[in-house]
Amino acid sequence: MTNMKEFVKHLIVDFTQMQEFINDPLIVSEGNGLRIKDVDGKEYIDGLSGVFTVSLGHGNKKILEAMVSQLKSLEFAPPLHATNPSAIKLAKMLTEIAPKGFDTVKLLSGGSEAVEASIKMARQYHVQTGNARKYKVISMYGSYHGGTMGALSATGVLATPKCPNADGIACP
Ligand SMILES: Cc1ncc(COP(=O)(O)O)c(C=O)c1O
Repeated sequence: MTNMKEFVKHLIVDFTQMQEFINDPLIVSEGNGLRIKDVDGKEYIDGLSGVFTVSLGHGNKKILEAMVSQLKSLEFAPPLHATNPSAIKLAKMLTEIAPKGFDTVKLLSGGSEAVEASIKMARQYHVQTGNARKYKVISMYGSYHGGTMGALSATGVLATPKCPNADGIACP
């Protein structure tokens, strides 16, 4: 595909003003260890580890092999009414390293989904323990909890960097 930079206007990215992005898009095409390369061959240090998802490095052979092996045996197990051996193995490893008392695991796909689940579980806990009106979630200004609706509503990142903002709320 030769006109990738031209096509970028049809693709929405997060946390970036789209017009600015379209004018000078960053299109990452390769990763190796802690470095990534864009389609023009420019190299960057991925200091955020792909937003904390590749903290063991890009192109990590052990991870690639484990992924291929899993895909060969089972590429998807319905999480609504089943689990699978790899999920059980991971849950066991997590409970072994977690602090005492944390002995149950809910596996999710990312941070926003984890925040959503924790809000739902906290609410459910209060409903089941007779405090149904205890449903408010308190978070901090400047905090980031994710891009899905519940996680976003708990997020305290201001949309505009003006301080104080239109409602007179000062920045942290
Ligand atoms: C503290 C925190 N919570 C939630 C999230 C959202 O995670 P995700 O992008 O995987 O949905 C992030 C992502 O950067 C985060 O740093």
